[in-house]
Amino acid sequence: MLLSNKNAASLKPLPEPAVKTEFLSPDAPGLARAAALLSDGALVAFPTETVYGLGGDARNDMAVARIFEAKGRPRFNPLIVHVDSIETAKRYVEWTDMADRLASAFWPGPLTLVLPIRPDAGLSPLVTADLPTLAIRVPAHPVARALLAAFDGPVAAPSANPSGKISPTTAAHVAAGLSGRIAAVVDGGACDVGLESTILGLAETPTLLRPGGLPQEALEAALGAPLALHGAGDPLSAPGQMTSHYAPGAPVRLNATDLRPGEKLLGFGKVDAAMNLSPSGDLTEAAANLFHHLHAMDALGAEVIAVSPIPDHGLGRAINDRLRRAAAPRP
Ligand code: TXA
Ligand code: MG
Repeated sequence: MLLSNKNAASLKPLPEPAVKTEFLSPDAPGLARAAALLSDGALVAFPTETVYGLGGDARNDMAVARIFEAKGRPRFNPLIVHVDSIETAKRYVEWTDMADRLASAFWPGPLTLVLPIRPDAGLSPLVTADLPTLAIRVPAHPVARALLAAFDGPVAAPSANPSGKISPTTAAHVAAGLSGRIAAVVDGGACDVGLESTILGLAETPTLLRPGGLPQEALEAALGAPLALHGAGDPLSAPGQMTSHYAPGAPVRLNATDLRPGEKLLGFGKVDAAMNLSPSGDLTEAAANLFHHLHAMDALGAEVIAVSPIPDHGLGRAINDRLRRAAAPRP
């Protein structure tokens, strides 16, 4: 799968180190401003009925890279995409009868469905961390719905807190954690549910991947059967730990400062390379390019993909986490 990368190439990174975070009212001018910022690839926090989300255009590689950067996430966990309706969701995932039954019963609301992503979805591979499935939901909060209508596109949004901190349920919480790191926050008051959405995997046997705002009992009543529960360990990080989903076809050698026979170089910074994650050494650009370039290196027929050293700070930590998985011994 070789995807085009025009978004990454056409967008400049936001000014470093800080932006002035705008506080927007959930009225027509505020929502129009928020939608315009999203269209520009900037980040906008907004209320959902569960928690505040940190939104970015799910089709835009740089916007999605900025989400990870703003949160300081040490790895590329897959993100939930927010859309306005079942009809829109069908553009992005392979819809099933069971998805239809559950979505009809619980959307809009605090339920996220994980389904196979459609090949023509057109989303940044950073959204799914290059997994073959997509987490998607239709939020119920009127401000989230109004923003999705104004933007008219898919919004990738994790909870709007720095990585490792608790999820925000007011605009003030968002500002406390992310002020200066995101373009705007739409103030829609306190969230009703105050707990993240329930995540249900439907790609295979219906599996509860994360308990959340929609009770398990309600889902089981609608399904007419008990749910499989995700196994031991942290269900949230599980998708990011499946090494097999992360490996390109060719073996990967990290921290390459020379080139050995059969190798092609995936560069970073000023190096002579078959492909370069960011010739200028910009980590946001490198993150935006990462999955596209790994696929492309495979397509170039590299026997071994050698990768330049990537600085291990900021987004570089998530990039290195991903690359270490790609380079890990294969099962
Ligand atoms: O209520 C919510 O769900 C909030 C609001 C903003 O919608 N969002 C939220 O996102 O909690 P986040 O990023 O904090 O948690 C999303 C989790 C990820 O950690 C990941 O484990 C799971 O969703 N996830 C996303 N895509 C997945 C996939 N394709 N397969 C399995 N799990 C996935
Ligand atoms: Mg979270």
